[in-house]
Amino acid sequence: MKKTFAILSALVVLGALFVSCGGSADAGLPKMGVAIYKFDDTFMSYVRNAIETNAAGKATIEMVDSQNAQPTQNDQVDAFLSKKAKVIAINPVDRTAAAAIIDKAKGRGTPVVFFNREPLPEDMAKWDKVYYVGAKAEQSGTMQGQIVADYWKAHPEADTNGDGVIQYIMLKGEPGHQDAELRTEFSIKAIVAAGYKVEKLAEDTAYWDRPKAVEKMKAFFAKFGTRIEVVLCNNDDMALGAIEALRQEGFFTGGKYMPVVGVDATAPALQALEQGTLLGTVLNDAKNQGKATFDIAFALATGKDPASTGWTITDGKYVWVPYQMVTKDNYTQFK
Ligand code: GAL
Ligand code: CA
Repeated sequence: MKKTFAILSALVVLGALFVSCGGSADAGLPKMGVAIYKFDDTFMSYVRNAIETNAAGKATIEMVDSQNAQPTQNDQVDAFLSKKAKVIAINPVDRTAAAAIIDKAKGRGTPVVFFNREPLPEDMAKWDKVYYVGAKAEQSGTMQGQIVADYWKAHPEADTNGDGVIQYIMLKGEPGHQDAELRTEFSIKAIVAAGYKVEKLAEDTAYWDRPKAVEKMKAFFAKFGTRIEVVLCNNDDMALGAIEALRQEGFFTGGKYMPVVGVDATAPALQALEQGTLLGTVLNDAKNQGKATFDIAFALATGKDPASTGWTITDGKYVWVPYQMVTKDNYTQFK
């Protein structure tokens, strides 16, 4: 009799579970609002996919495109808060706008996870329910510089004018973005630390964008021509744009080469490495950044301690996902 009862109640529980799974889509799952600075960004599209993959079956995600406009994003944040999202994950358009977002979220008691665009430390300090998931921009710059220095060491002919100085072009991401500023600074520092002299021929922003980089590189080539010995780019899309422009000038055929480095390790960049155009890149680990963003947000949404996710949390608020150097020697690992 007891046994029958146990079996029966087990069946009832199973039935209830079944109904809740088969019932209206995702009812009962915690709601998360996710805003991306713009969908039209190669690297961010990888992060977006990672967030969505990790959320499957665990949370209901509303993912919006802030279209590179902070006022649009502010409205989206307001909408998330009034729809009672349990947590919001924000990739700010303008990282200095984080303060206003934190104030609003704090007013509602809704935790915030920022990612990829790092708010200022004084803003991060405004509330203990604010987190940041990203990567140490300095590290990616240092790795780029090491790739250039290694190349220079192995290829004395790279010093085309033989003056013992590396004449370079720097294509920057969006001004003010920590990745643009620090990659620019630390890539050169690493080259200098390896014992080389450098001369900057030109530096300009191409806003992370491939077509813009093609235009900038064409103009630089028109001005400096073969005086250019190295092209450093804050991301792969711009590196691929620079390669495209150089190809039009006859590079990458018949032994005519120019070392170009990027960051991100996007699929087209790995292909360029394989083809021997791109010298090197740095893995900006979208999979793990997206996973950490989701895991921390999910913990906050379900009232758990973010430290219970297994991610190392530094200074109570930061999750740092490491970069990795990628060259023709190891790129197949990242495909
Ligand atoms: C960087 C990435 C760039 C761009 C930018 C957007 O980390 O290297 O390609 O996606 O983030 O904020
Ligand atoms: Ca030189």
